[in-house]
Parts: sequence; C-alpha cells; structure tokens
Amino acid sequence: MFGKAQKKRWSGSGTGRKSGGRLRRSSSGQLLLKRVVCVKKIKKFCHCQLGFKQKLNRPVPRLGGLQARGLLLLQKVSWAAPWILFILQAAPGEVTEAVKVAIDVGYRHFDCAYLYHNESEVGAGIQCKIKEGMVRREDLFIVSKLWCTCHKKSLVRTACSKTLKALKLEYLDLYLIHWPMGFKPGDEDLPLDRSGMVIPSDTDFLDTWEAMEDLVTSGLVKAIGVSNFNHKQLERLLNKPNLRFMPLTNQVECHPFLAQKNLINFCQSRGVSVTAYQPLGGSSGGVDLMDNDVIQAIARKHQKSPAQILIRFQIQRDVIVIPKSVNPKRILENIQVFDFELTEQDMSDLLALDRNLRLTKFSTAENHKDYPFHIAY
Ligand SMILES: NC(=O)c1ccc[n+]([C@@H]2O[C@H](COP(=O)([O-])OP(=O)(O)OC[C@H]3O[C@@H](n4cnc5c(N)ncnc54)[C@H](OP(=O)(O)O)[C@@H]3O)[C@@H](O)[C@H]2O)c1
Repeated sequence: MFGKAQKKRWSGSGTGRKSGGRLRRSSSGQLLLKRVVCVKKIKKFCHCQLGFKQKLNRPVPRLGGLQARGLLLLQKVSWAAPWILFILQAAPGEVTEAVKVAIDVGYRHFDCAYLYHNESEVGAGIQCKIKEGMVRREDLFIVSKLWCTCHKKSLVRTACSKTLKALKLEYLDLYLIHWPMGFKPGDEDLPLDRSGMVIPSDTDFLDTWEAMEDLVTSGLVKAIGVSNFNHKQLERLLNKPNLRFMPLTNQVECHPFLAQKNLINFCQSRGVSVTAYQPLGGSSGGVDLMDNDVIQAIARKHQKSPAQILIRFQIQRDVIVIPKSVNPKRILENIQVFDFELTEQDMSDLLALDRNLRLTKFSTAENHKDYPFHIAY
C-alpha cells in the first residue's frame, strides 16, 4: 500500500533526486537526477492502472471528497502479501489461494523473496489470475529480494533469474538487496560457523549494487532498492561514485513499538521511500500490538480493527506497508483502510508508543562487518 509521498514522487517533476532515477553530477558536483526508463515505467504503471494521470499532479487529496477516490484507487494499486517463516508452516496451496483472494479483493503489490521458498506458489496464484483475465501483468507490482548468499556480482543475475522462473514472470517491478550483509555462497541460506554465527562473504554491497543496476539495464527488473539498511549504509550507497540508479525504497521493520522516526526522516529527505515490514507486530515470535490499550481505543473510536489502525498509521506517514495474511477475511479487512483517517492526536498517540523494540534482530549475523543494527538508526 503506497501513501501520498510515493504518489507525489512518481508524479512530481523537476530536478530533485527521485527514487529509481539515473543520476548525474552538476558542475558544482551536486548529484542531480535524470529520469530514466525505470521510473517512467513505474509512473506509467500507476497512470495506466488508475487512469487519472492529471489528478496525480494535483495536491494530495484528503479522504472524503470526490478526489479521495483517486487516493483510494492509487493506494489499492499496491500491497504485499507473502512473508517470511510463517508460510513454511502453512498447508500446501495456502499461499496460492491467498494470492488469488488478494488479487480478487484489489491488492496489486506483492512482496516476495527467494528466502521465503514459496515463490512458485505465489507465481501460481498470479498466473491463475492473469489467465482468468482478472488482472494483466502490467497491473501488478511484484517485488522480490536478493538473498545474502548471492551478493557476489557474478551470482546476482542467476539469483534473479531463479526468482523470475519460480514466479513465472519475465520481469520484476522491484528487486531489493534483502540485507546489506553478504554470506558465504552455497546451498545453505544461513551458512554458520562452529559457534553458530553467520559466515560472511568478502563482498561489499556497493559492488552488489552494480550488479543490481545491470539487471535494470538488461530489463529483468524495473527498479531496485534495499532492505534492512541503516542510514549510514544508505548514505554510503547514495554517495557511491557513478551511481546509475537510486534505490527506490528501503524496506525495514516498522510498527508503533519501532516507529523508525529518524530512519524514515532520513530516507524521505533523500528521496528514498520506506516500506514497513512486520507492520502488525510480526508473524511468528512477534509482539502483540492488537491488544495494546492505545491501539484498541483508537480502533474503537473509528470502528475499525487494531490491524486496520496499524496499517493506516503507516499510510498516513507516507510509508508503504506490507501486512501479511493468508486468511481471506483478514486479507479483505487489511485493505479496507481507505475510508477513514486518523487524527493528528491519534498519530501522536501511536508514535508515543515507540519503545525501540526490534523484532527482527538477526543475532547470528551481529559479528558481520555490515550488520545494520549496531547504530541507532
Ligand atoms: N525485508 C525483510 O527482512 C522482511 C522481514 C520480515 C517480513 N518482511 C515482509 O513483511 C511482511 C509482513 O511481515 P510479517 O508477516 O512478519 O508480519 P505482520 O504482517 O506484521 O503480521 C502478520 C501476522 O498478523 C496476522 N494478521 C494479519 N492480518 C491480521 C488482522 N487483520 N488481524 C489480526 N491478525 C492479522 C497474520 O496471520 P494470518 O496470516 O493468519 O492472517 C500473521 O500472523 C512479510 O510478509 C514479508 O513480505 C520482510
């Protein structure tokens, strides 16, 4: 689900730095953006899908009026379903069915990853709906992620092709570096040493990024981005000499108990969108946000569920949000978030819940040179 900042970014004009754009240096050495095909295609994707190109260039509409329909439609373009560990415990076919239900009720953005080992099930759901004529490929926004064992430049294209094959797609709309850390290549997703810590590779994410950029140039992906990067790592990437494509997004854990105010400010000020994962408090081993008194009170006031409040919270911060569900009732519930608006007081009450509680710590990787969580944000 995309908020108004993404809409503005995709519809804006001018010389500011834009996500996914090609950069050039001005005579003063300042990085400027030169739009490139990938951004244009993403814009086109939105415009075609929604059919209200002019409206996208207007000020952001508020909910409730005629213009709000545009916002509603735009945000319905995007979403994500599939997750991480949960699905490993799910019954065969559950993922495919969840994707089909999601497409039927209006989701168009699917967040996948090699690591989730369910891309072929996701692909089956997508293909089924395309064959039925329910959606066209260009109506969808399919995201996947490069796993840490494939950071070596020579492995990136093969990893992406494997994902495309599993998803039965010719291109991805967005491909992310899943973590800034490279691991020893091989069959094991998590190569561990005798003390149970991850075995790193000698790769640098700046080199990996070059291979990601090649994927854009060769048409396998429309745009590229990162996940779990701290602000210093993102800055290092943005300052990379000869950067060809900016990261479109930084996908990070984000919910009221880990509000990520500083990181969001940093990313948005640098033209990089933020995507919130575990927005409901996570699947297995998560935190119970639904029972929180503040969240429940806000939910009661708006006659919405706690999950809907948590999703709407991110949308109103201009953060893309990817709640996961395999349950048809909850899949529908999670998209019914465009007919109400949280007040400023609601937003500040939710932000006041922040306690810097990180669920995904990836402790087995904390000795890695590129472990992202040693600094505050
Ligand atoms: N980049 C990364 O490193 C990374 C890491 C973790 C996750 N992610 C992405 O973020 C997505 C979301 O994260 P997540 O699945 O860990 O956590 P989440 O979306 O915060 O929570 C999912 C959990 O909430 C339940 N749920 C969903 N809708 C609900 C509702 N309306 N009411 C009550 N419970 C509800 C789900 O159960 P049911 O399925 O039974 O409804 C599931 O147990 C993942 O799918 C994945 O795509 C990315």
